[in-house]
Amino acid sequence: MTFNPFTLEGKIILVTGASSGIGKATAIACSKMGASVIITGRNVERLQETFNELEGVGHNQVIAELTDEDQLTKLAEMVPPLDGIVNNAGIGSKTPISFIKKTDLQTILDVNTIVPIMLTKNLLKKKKMKRGASMVFTSSISGICSVDIGNTLYSVSKSAIDGFMKNAAKELAEKGIRVNSVNPGMVNTKINEYSSVSEEDIQRDMANYPLKRYGNPEEIAYAIIYLLSDASAWVTGTALKIDGGYSL
Ligand SMILES: NC(=O)c1ccc[n+]([C@@H]2O[C@H](COP(=O)([O-])OP(=O)(O)OC[C@H]3O[C@@H](n4cnc5c(N)ncnc54)[C@H](OP(=O)(O)O)[C@@H]3O)[C@@H](O)[C@H]2O)c1
Repeated sequence: MTFNPFTLEGKIILVTGASSGIGKATAIACSKMGASVIITGRNVERLQETFNELEGVGHNQVIAELTDEDQLTKLAEMVPPLDGIVNNAGIGSKTPISFIKKTDLQTILDVNTIVPIMLTKNLLKKKKMKRGASMVFTSSISGICSVDIGNTLYSVSKSAIDGFMKNAAKELAEKGIRVNSVNPGMVNTKINEYSSVSEEDIQRDMANYPLKRYGNPEEIAYAIIYLLSDASAWVTGTALKIDGGYSL
């Protein structure tokens, strides 16, 4: 057998937001590393596309609007005991502070913060996280260290999830469950497709990255694989920055 400390062979992993972007790349990469993957998203066609690209057998897909409490509860009920969860579904926002509406704040907190916290709670309550399991949250550099004008609501939602991650890491350590986050800079996915941002703005922004480009979804997926695998068995409570040097 080949030496591979990052293998996910025999592990069962739930990935939310798997119908697109980072979640899609993560689900596919996890399957290539040997995991059985349960993928969830809202868009039927795009989730099926991800499902079709999974390698190996034993995978499953669940269409769910995660802000719907019943659907969130059912998801936690229907999954088998898990070795890993990637709490990844999320939305963006570009809102200057003086234009913030309470409903905008509620919407982004609902998807980016409340859903991952309540899914974690439901999985624990239903004893669906095995001893030795790994929980990964897709947060953002804006949750830990980066400030950009217009990004306030998004940053608030991600800072809260990093706060939750650290507290959960401490609380769940006695169950042998590890909890970490990945914190990407800008990654090429549909979350960043704002009609108001021109190609020129994007090029100017990319120039602020020491590595002179945005990230690709696979480059986040590979870090998530590390955190899901036994290679990171002594890592918990860590926010892993992946940002081409942007925050230096
Ligand atoms: N791309 C970046 O620059 C970047 C940087 C830092 C962090 N992140 C974070 O990475 C995560 C993934 O984002 P992405 O860039 O891959 O974006 P994306 O391509 O837009 O994918 C977002 C995923 O979340 C799902 N989703 C959104 N709202 C949902 C809801 N209410 N219920 C169920 N599923 C829902 C979407 O499902 P449907 O498409 O099926 O509706 C989709 O699968 C997010 O948490 C995001 O904040 C992204």
